[in-house]
Amino acid sequence: GDKGPFLNEPPWDWSQAVHRKRFAAALEDVRKKFPMKVPLVIGGKKISVSREIHSINPNAPEEVVGIVSSAGREEAEEAILAARTTFPLWRDTDPGVRAEYLFKAANVARGMRYELAALQVFEVGKAWSEADGDVCEAIDFLEYYGREMIRLSAPQRMGQVPGEISHLFYEPRGIAVVIAPWNFPLAISMGMTCAAIVTGNTVVYKPASQSPVIGSMVSKIFEEAKLPPGVLNFLPGSGSEIGDYLVTHPQVSLIAFTGSKAVGLRIVELASKTPEGALSVKNVIAEMGGKNAIIVDADADFDEAVLHILHSAFGYQGQKCSACSRLIVLEENYDRLVDRLKAAAESLHLGSPENPQNVMGAVIDPSARQKIMEYIEIGKKEGTLLLERQVPGSGGHFVPLTIFTDIRPDHRLAQEEIFGPVLAVMKAQDFDEALAIANSTPYALTGAVFSRSPANIARAAKEFRTGNLYINRGCTGALVGRHPFGGFNMSGIGSKTGGPDYLLQFMVPRNVAENT
Ligand code: NAD
Ligand code: ALA
Repeated sequence: GDKGPFLNEPPWDWSQAVHRKRFAAALEDVRKKFPMKVPLVIGGKKISVSREIHSINPNAPEEVVGIVSSAGREEAEEAILAARTTFPLWRDTDPGVRAEYLFKAANVARGMRYELAALQVFEVGKAWSEADGDVCEAIDFLEYYGREMIRLSAPQRMGQVPGEISHLFYEPRGIAVVIAPWNFPLAISMGMTCAAIVTGNTVVYKPASQSPVIGSMVSKIFEEAKLPPGVLNFLPGSGSEIGDYLVTHPQVSLIAFTGSKAVGLRIVELASKTPEGALSVKNVIAEMGGKNAIIVDADADFDEAVLHILHSAFGYQGQKCSACSRLIVLEENYDRLVDRLKAAAESLHLGSPENPQNVMGAVIDPSARQKIMEYIEIGKKEGTLLLERQVPGSGGHFVPLTIFTDIRPDHRLAQEEIFGPVLAVMKAQDFDEALAIANSTPYALTGAVFSRSPANIARAAKEFRTGNLYINRGCTGALVGRHPFGGFNMSGIGSKTGGPDYLLQFMVPRNVAENT
């Protein structure tokens, strides 16, 4: 039937007691199920293997959230075979019917919203509203890409020459491998997976090893939506063990990856070598990191700017590709803004995300902790420490909320993605210099400008070269259908998620011209 226009799923309004109560209840209910046992799903069969991933709560590492079967090469090969066997049937399924599975999956996910978000509080350490936002975004991808497939499924008549009917239309590529990160553990996994499914590809989906239980929910949601077995194969496993195998496999036609620059570049390189017997030249979509800046202009509204800066820099502990890690402030405001920022950052509640007042808890795992702590040491040499606030509590993978001033564009703190709650504040003499600093990294993902000057806003729109630029708003929290998301340069290749070009990458265009 007619689905009506796409609308974003509204997040819970926490001022309503019903949502606070239900969320607290969901946290208790979900916790009773720990450790959750999670099998692989290949060709619709649940398969448990002896090799396991223990998924733990970053705020309380003694708590095991899930014990997850971990695939080796043998299981990876079985998953490819299942995807291969199912492909012709799925390719030839009407695109409208494929879209219906996404709409059904959206309804299944809606019915599980509290549970899906509660799980994120435990498995990846998201605060309540961040967790809820991720679940809403997953639902948005299902609703948006379902509608997009319907739009793209109508063949386009090309040319108007008498005696000829020429049509352009799209078909799936084949087997898609989806490799996902842990930081938006449902939304990004669901987005890449459902895009591949709705366009008619069959999928082998590998979640990140830090969030395989939430990853298994993608598989569960589609199982409940009655997606035919073999269309989606769920294959948790170590990136270094099965990653290269999947990426170089001759029967794989498409790789949809979101994660770090290092792994993304490796995938691009490996996928470009076409092995003997390859079915196609592989298409790679790789969404990678960011080193995003917010510029505060001389006439900016400080009240607004400070709130957005804190949220962009420290929301989810700074573990977003879109997070603000550089703050560029015009000289005339520098001291005033830095004072305000420090005072505001001192007022934030830190601690476990089980308590909804806390905005920042533990980072994902010990190696993330170590990397961030190393950058904090580098920052102490390169700049001036403005604030270093420890997260109270013990045992969790905590790092301090940290702000440095006096960082220069050539410093490592101004160039390298840290992926933690570390903000580098930089001074610019004028708006020209602010733009030059903003553009001076290898990345180009998100950015923001706070200004009341129409001339500077217009310049920024043109010259602050990022995939997503926000004016008088923070640089995180892109909404599907409203802010098509993704970067260029070292932030990735491929076109924007939640935008009108995204699905085209999962298909091949064909043309049939008939003389009549
Ligand atoms: P990561 O690159 O370490 O891991 C991502 C995925 O790749 C995981 O599933 C991992 O198991 C897998 N992997 C690891 N080695 C592999 C290999 N050799 N072959 C194939 N797969 C392999 O990234 P992460 O730590 O999960 O996520 C954080 C990074 O993701 C940050 O750099 C962040 O900026 C980026 N990110 C980007 C976007 C975006 O849209 N641009 C969104 C979210 C996260
Ligand atoms: N899409 C996510 C954001 O915009 C990464 O924050």
